[in-house]
Amino acid sequence: MTDAPADLLTRLRAHGQDHLLTGWATLSESRRTAFAAQLERVDFAELERLYARRGESLSDFDPASVTPIAVEDASAVDATTLKLGEDCLRRGEVAVLVVAGGQGSRLGFDKPKGLFPVGPVSGASLFRLHAEKVAALSRKYGVAAPMLVMTSAATTADTRAFFEEQHYFGLPRGQVTFFEQGTMPALDAATGKLLLTAPGELNHSPNGHGGTLTALADTGLLADLKGRGVRHIYYFQVDNPLVDLAAPGFVGRHVAANSDASTKVVFKSRPDEKVGVLALIGGVCGIVEYSDLPAELADARDADGELLHRAGNTAIHLFSVAFLERVTQGAERLAFHLARKKVPYYDPATGETVQPTVENALKFELFVFDALPLAERWLTVRVNREDEFAPLKNATGADSPVAVRAAISDFHARRLRAAGVEVAGGVPVEVAALFALSDAELRAKIPAGTRVVVPTLFE
Ligand code: UD1
Repeated sequence: MTDAPADLLTRLRAHGQDHLLTGWATLSESRRTAFAAQLERVDFAELERLYARRGESLSDFDPASVTPIAVEDASAVDATTLKLGEDCLRRGEVAVLVVAGGQGSRLGFDKPKGLFPVGPVSGASLFRLHAEKVAALSRKYGVAAPMLVMTSAATTADTRAFFEEQHYFGLPRGQVTFFEQGTMPALDAATGKLLLTAPGELNHSPNGHGGTLTALADTGLLADLKGRGVRHIYYFQVDNPLVDLAAPGFVGRHVAANSDASTKVVFKSRPDEKVGVLALIGGVCGIVEYSDLPAELADARDADGELLHRAGNTAIHLFSVAFLERVTQGAERLAFHLARKKVPYYDPATGETVQPTVENALKFELFVFDALPLAERWLTVRVNREDEFAPLKNATGADSPVAVRAAISDFHARRLRAAGVEVAGGVPVEVAALFALSDAELRAKIPAGTRVVVPTLFE
């Protein structure tokens, strides 16, 4: 430890974290440099503050303060609002942002989720489906809509390599910007000391999808987008292949309402569905996450017998750039949620790796929806689940590849039937975004008398 750089040692000692330098003498020169740089980026004072507040919970709220939020219906959009949205898209004021930093552990796929082949006929990956929508959107409005891909240390390399290998799915390279969310070190719950995975290697993990917003600002990307005339950012999760990218009606409503943050919701299918609930919490827009939703709220019914709190979070948000500037600066920055986890770690005292049997560590994550209560004006728009929401989460059962492929196929079969096509029941079918993004385009392109009796991809 003694041959560690004196300034580093002093800094760590000041925070009671000098155990991190045990084994420094055994590290290679390059490992030392990398580790010193890693430690340089750690905000020890912030970790101390977080540790001191470990008894508090951000999820504590009074259930009595939760009331239903007003929800507008997406289909009720007038021509003026639609035109507002179209004009905004045409002026290039909307960027799309896909969050793809999670490791998809529930899905049991060992690569980033965006690489998962989900197209029921095409076998296209989630990333391809999203990128082709961006291409179709850009073609429709005659402007290259920026596509931002947020990754994490765990997904960056594979994601970038996949885009390269797939030639950016036909998008000009310059249209796609990758940026990486930050990480947060895990702390020993008993002592507040940072954990290691090996000598010279911090135990750290992605800082939650709320890290998207801070990374947007901290990398300078937000300022750059603003400079390029982008006024709104359409945020969505990589796991949802049905996302209706930047539909003009939704954009138009958001602009007309001068909304800071607009969210698409679907009505919950059952009280215990694993989606967050949009609600007013103490009078302002917020989300009660499914894991925090008490049964009294989950099961509550209105006079018609419908779930009282049914506005399920699709995690599709349209944020105004001005709002994002506000929530990524100064006092309004998002606060970390704390989770107690079992985290294996390297013990410098014994030189062994410990596999804990109880929750031994504190992990910290930012949630993107913590931005919602900071909005002065918000909007909640209900869309049809069958048309816009089929997240890929699990290996089997609900939200599994089988369920998601069926949802994609059913969606396109409905569109085709509405366009006059006869589609045999149970036959997988898919319409590529570049074939027809909107239903009007589909009607115009499909020859009269088209029948689908075998698996078919319209491309
Ligand atoms: C999430 C929402 C839930 C919503 C549901 C809709 C949270 C806490 N809850 O639940 O309200 O109804 O989606 O499908 O998010 N990610 C990162 N970096 C991270 C962590 C996650 O990029 O550090 C990304 C993942 O890649 C994924 C998304 O965030 O695209 C959501 O993460 P996931 O763990 O699947 O959230 P859910 O529990 O399903």
